[in-house]
Amino acid sequence: MDKVTVNRLAEMKREGQRITALAAYDFPIASLIDAAGVDLVLVGDSLGMTFRGEENTLTVTVEDIAYHTRAVRRGVKRALLVADMPFLSCHVSAEKTLENAGKMIISGAEAVKLEGIDGVVETVPRLLAAGVPVMGHLGLTPQSIHKLGGYKVQGRQGKAAQKLFDDARRLEEAGAFALVLECVPAELAARVSEALAIPAIGIGAGPDCDGQILVANDMLGLTPGRAPRFVKRYAELADAAKTAIETYVRETRGGAFPAAEHSYPAEPRRLKAV
Ligand code: KIV
Repeated sequence: MDKVTVNRLAEMKREGQRITALAAYDFPIASLIDAAGVDLVLVGDSLGMTFRGEENTLTVTVEDIAYHTRAVRRGVKRALLVADMPFLSCHVSAEKTLENAGKMIISGAEAVKLEGIDGVVETVPRLLAAGVPVMGHLGLTPQSIHKLGGYKVQGRQGKAAQKLFDDARRLEEAGAFALVLECVPAELAARVSEALAIPAIGIGAGPDCDGQILVANDMLGLTPGRAPRFVKRYAELADAAKTAIETYVRETRGGAFPAAEHSYPAEPRRLKAV
């Protein structure tokens, strides 16, 4: 299968082909995702919560995302690799934004994702001018969690829905190549997807987006605790891992592990010399 590029994603939208995307943070999961033919892999700042067990995404730094991007890069051959710009990484100054986005590209990303609209939409043309494609992210934007007052569905009321619709158009006009719509009513996401020429990729945004994204750890059943409503768990890998670890503990304590096939015999002559 051909390498996925930002142009290919635009083509997929025109052809009515649904885009598949997953967020991943490490080499083994990224390799599995890429081999399965997923179109876009995001190194998301959700790693703060999903991978590090923190309360929110606000502690994730540019260096953190760059580190995970390097690991994911080694596993991704075909999919488009996008790195998240974490909290405040694109709000301090135009120079700092470019420098931070540059770190993502040097680490192997082919594009960056920016959350929200204020202080973001104006940076899109600057990043594009430097050769960095930009993906937007509207609706529930976890970096604004304190402003939003919780992880809630966004754009439910008429005014908020209209603002989200207008913001999506502004990001498209600024040059974003795609958009994530997180936790917005399905009807609104359908309207946005239809109105835009660029792909809208939904997470908790209903079935009528141009594509879907989930966090790989969530859909694989690796994230402890209750998952949000929008997550479908396609596997229960944590249960399988727990059983395996418990068996290892039992066998090690009981002496069944390691068995002969896990041990290295010495050469007979060397043994005599000891
Ligand atoms: O950080 C992340 O993983 C994301 C996706 C949930 C879209 O932004």
